[in-house]
Amino acid sequence: MTIENSVKKVLILDFGSQYTQVIARRVRELNIFSEIIPCTRNCSVQDLTNVEAVIFSGGPASVLDDDSPAFDIAWLKTKIPTLGICYGMQLMSQMLGGKVASSKKREYGATALEIIDNSDLFEGFALDKNLQVWMSHGDHVVEVPSGFKVLAKSESIPMAAMGNKADQLYALQFHPEVFHTERGGEIISNFLIKIAKCDTSWSADGFIHTFNKKIQSMVSPEQNVLCALSGGVDSTVAAVLIDRAIPGQLKSIFVDNGLLRKDEAQQVYKRLGVEGLGLDVKLVDARERFLTALRGVTDPEKKRKIIGSVFIDVFEEESKSLQNVKYLVQGTLYPDVIESVSVKGPSATIKSHHNVGGLPEKMNFELIEPFRELFKDEVRRVGEALNVPTEIIKRQPFPGPGLAVRILGEITQDKIDILQEADAILVEEVKRAGWYEKLWQSFAVLLPVDSVGVMGDGRTYEKCIAIRAVESQDGMTANWAYLPEKVLGIISSRIINEVSGVNRVVLDISNKPPATIEWE
Ligand code: XMP
Repeated sequence: MTIENSVKKVLILDFGSQYTQVIARRVRELNIFSEIIPCTRNCSVQDLTNVEAVIFSGGPASVLDDDSPAFDIAWLKTKIPTLGICYGMQLMSQMLGGKVASSKKREYGATALEIIDNSDLFEGFALDKNLQVWMSHGDHVVEVPSGFKVLAKSESIPMAAMGNKADQLYALQFHPEVFHTERGGEIISNFLIKIAKCDTSWSADGFIHTFNKKIQSMVSPEQNVLCALSGGVDSTVAAVLIDRAIPGQLKSIFVDNGLLRKDEAQQVYKRLGVEGLGLDVKLVDARERFLTALRGVTDPEKKRKIIGSVFIDVFEEESKSLQNVKYLVQGTLYPDVIESVSVKGPSATIKSHHNVGGLPEKMNFELIEPFRELFKDEVRRVGEALNVPTEIIKRQPFPGPGLAVRILGEITQDKIDILQEADAILVEEVKRAGWYEKLWQSFAVLLPVDSVGVMGDGRTYEKCIAIRAVESQDGMTANWAYLPEKVLGIISSRIINEVSGVNRVVLDISNKPPATIEWE
């Protein structure tokens, strides 16, 4: 079950651009709901129910190729305001009888734009001003379709923007959604708010209200909904949302796999259960079971698979004791489900590690995914509106396999103990320094190397801990964080002094890409 069908929205047709998600973010920043659909889905005009505006993304294809992706031209006759970006502009032009030519070489980077017509898409922009915009294209429009006016040109192309007011069709050769385009947000806002008059009332309260109505009509009073809680933001907010909508019908299970942070299982149980948020949650101690299953395993993907499958077994066994469960709730987020399209067909890039180990396929439940269309910051807003405590809402993401992907090599209880202690110090100091909320993630990693040290008069041969702290918007790319030297110094000396078995601390200064955030 998703909630998107009943709300007014902007539809983003994805032609495979690397920036499609960024377009969605820009739209959401204006408090307008948006949905991305792949161009390879067989879209028809029926898909436009409740759609207030359409955006065609860019894409790597060329409209001059025979098998380039297209769409139902009937869309362009509906007078629903439509904006084509890059490939979207070329496609719009070609389908309506304009002409597209191939440049000899790709134009990539910042270019100066000269606005020729500032009547609506560029309202508020000066005509004589050169605006820095971001281009990334091979082809470009050389003749606009009839009924269109050229709205802007650039140093390299004479038709960098076009518009047809009567049919509400607009297009840009450059990317207004990217950070490098000056005032790009204003151009998008002009299109969505001034031209398309989109509903800008998307709010957490509105979302909760719509969701409540939907779930109350879907789940009958004798049915129960099951939730696998992880203690993270998404599953917690999803659980609270449902619990408040259909009180008494949500049953949650929280599995302690032994791979959580220090004291975390008890803390989470306290925060979410009767003493905290009041959820009906069962804490299952499965630490031994996970440890046994992981014995001798060093391959990271094998570790993930084992953890996923033991989790399913435990969860399945526990759920059997519950009555009348028909639904399973999952805190899946939008970035986890977006399909990135290749021109040859959709290629689902759902990260296997972000699914709760295939629970729904194995168990006979219907899925409820309230946040399937939301970004993480929007889930946080929903959480705030539901009065979920800040320490849960602001919690940094924590991977499902937990410390297993931060202990390189085989997992043993001794190593878990060492890492938990070191990590607890790191988190405490990062919080004390006021850095916790500025970082996407910060944690300790236990390396599979022992190195020589001196302690007192003797030589030691002990473990090494790496400090990993990154800044990121969504975890897809990340930069290592410049934690103050003083904070690093305190973390290092505390770990070496207080965690027995560790004699060296190093700092990970790698960005993603090419490194990943986790070490395994
Ligand atoms: P990487 O390491 O791929 O991580 O740069 C990106 C984000 O995903 C998290 N992550 C995981 N989350 N199960 C999860 O639930 C996993 O197996 C897993 N691996 C990485 C990681 O913590 C970061 O936020």
